[in-house]
Formats: sequence, structure tokens, C-alpha cells
Amino acid sequence: MEYIDLRSDTVTKPTPEMREAMVEAEVGDDVYRDDPTVNKLEALAAEKLGKEASIFIPSGTMGNLLALLVHCQRGDEVIVGSKSHIYLNEAGGMSALGGIQPCPVPNQKDGRLALGDILASIRSEDVHHPITRLVCIENTQNICGGVPLTAEYTRQVGEVAHKNGLALHVDGARIFNAAAAQNVDVKELVAPADSVMFCLSKGLASPIGSMLVGTDKFIARARHLRKMLGGGMRQVGVIASAGIISLEKMTIRLGDDHARAKKLADGLRQIDGIVLDDGSPYTNMIYFTLADSLPLNAPQTADKMKELGVLVDPDAWRRFRLVTHYWVDDAAVEKTVSAFKKVLS
Ligand SMILES: Cc1ncc(COP(=O)(O)O)c(C=O)c1O
Repeated sequence: MEYIDLRSDTVTKPTPEMREAMVEAEVGDDVYRDDPTVNKLEALAAEKLGKEASIFIPSGTMGNLLALLVHCQRGDEVIVGSKSHIYLNEAGGMSALGGIQPCPVPNQKDGRLALGDILASIRSEDVHHPITRLVCIENTQNICGGVPLTAEYTRQVGEVAHKNGLALHVDGARIFNAAAAQNVDVKELVAPADSVMFCLSKGLASPIGSMLVGTDKFIARARHLRKMLGGGMRQVGVIASAGIISLEKMTIRLGDDHARAKKLADGLRQIDGIVLDDGSPYTNMIYFTLADSLPLNAPQTADKMKELGVLVDPDAWRRFRLVTHYWVDDAAVEKTVSAFKKVLS
């Protein structure tokens, strides 16, 4: 059966154009910096984000870890959101591999970290204290609903960080969704950041890969550490070629995914017992709860949806997150609404 897959935007398979580019890609040994396709992708990513340099990495998790390892020394502390991917979903890499301590501050409902909370978390000079080195924010903020943070908020966080001698890292796994939703240039969204990680492998539909961007000096150090972590890849132009298409063509179509998320949410809202989160969807993610009046819980609902050809992932016992992406078209949206109606009625 050909499934409609709404579990995540990470499930996106390469487009036919990407597959063609992958076959034709010019390649070389990227550890020697000899891969022309990777070099082109890295130059393009740096240019698009308005930073000096960038590096191609296998995953977003490695990109965030590299950023933390470059910004911090062992024993340093990083201010992170309590609902951030870096804090919750990266296997404790910063502590295990970097000796870095997270200082979680609450994510507000709208995804922000309150500026007062950031300020209050910065450690004073004291032999007992770790040294606060870095603030991390996530844009879009996944767990808070795929909510985009504004350029103005990011400017304010940058100001607080820099005034206090800290760096700012943006986990921008879906930064192009944030830019599309607010109709701003991605450069503006990340201007205050010292480093940014973004993923090619999510809404931008590449099969593999993320980018880390920053200054020349920052990226040179990240390149050394990427090798240390075993992330120095060889003839990787084969996948960088898809990344170039992601940046040139897929970034400008994300509005379609957001429009379809709205259409899907509108359909779901009509079904008795589906309670959408306030404001959802902001971008390509729809979060909703199943009312207690419904006999099925989320895992049971997901099993029945699968029988009807729709893959959905329970986010909790009575809760779902659905994600639209390149491979979800208008017909898939309609079919999903009908399937939910059938399963829950
Ligand atoms: C906000 C955020 N940051 C980072 C990552 C990590 O990306 P990867 O799965 O490529 O390691 C994800 C993955 O879903 C994410 O949602």
C-alpha cells in the first residue's frame, strides 16, 4: 500500500530531480576539500544565511553538538529551552561528549525563552559556579507547536547574550519554515546569531544532511571537531547535490506545506472529539488532543489510521502531532480528514 505519511517531515524521500542530480554529481574527497558539489553547497548555505562560512554535516544532532563543542569548554554551562530538542532529544550529547552542563529555562507557550529568565540564569563570577557561555534558541520551536520566533525576538536574545559575553546559537532545524511563515528573509531571522544549524533532510526534502553556519574561524574549528566525531565524509557530493536543490528550490515552496497544514487542521476541527491546540498550525505541524469522550486513545487511533493508509504518530496517550511536507498533496489532506472521520465516528 502507498501510505500517506504525516509522522514527520523527516520521512521525505528525495524528489525525482534530486535523484537525477545525485546520479550526475561531480564528487571528490571532501576531507581534502576536493568535492566541488559539497564546496558549492557550503558556499550557498553561508550566502543564504548571511554568514561567512558553513559546513555540511550528516545530521542536525551532530550540528548542534559541534556548535556546543566549539562555543564551550568542559564545565561550561549553556542556557537551553526546557522543551528544546537540544535538551530533550539529543541523547545528552553535550554532557556525555563535551562535559557541558545544560541550564534549562522554561519555554513559554509561544516557544520563546523569557528574556528575564535568560538574564536570571546567567551565572555570576564565583569559584563555585560553572561559567555560562552560550544561549540556544530553537526556530521553529517544535514541541511548542512548530511556532516561529521573530527576528525582533532573536535580536533581543542576541543583545542579552552579547551584552553578557555569551554567544547565541540557533537550532534552526526548520529555520526556512520560520522564514516562510513570516515572509522574512532567513538572513534577517539569524542575523544576531553567532552560529546556526539547519536541516536539509526535513521540509527541504533531502535524504540526508544538515548545515552549520558561522564565522570562518568557527567553521574551521567545527571542521576539526567533525573529523574527531567521525563525521568527515568522502565523496559526499552524491548527497550534497540534493542539498543544493533543497536550498535553491525547496525553500521557496514551504508555504504550500503551511497552507496544507491549515487545510488539514480546518478539516480535523470539524470532527467531534478532536481538539486542536490554540493557534495550531503555525507552520507545517498540527498538534491536537483526543477528547476523553472518544473511546479510542492515540495509539489505537494510529493503528486504525494505518489500516486506512495513513501513518500518524501519537505524541502522547491522547495526543498527536501531524506534519505536512513535500509528499503530502491536496488529495492526501482530504483522504486524511476522511480517514480520521471514519476511525473516530
Ligand atoms: C528542532 C530540531 N533540532 C534538531 C533536530 C535533529 O536533527 P537530526 O534528526 O538530523 O539529528 C531535530 C530533528 O527532528 C529537530 O526537530
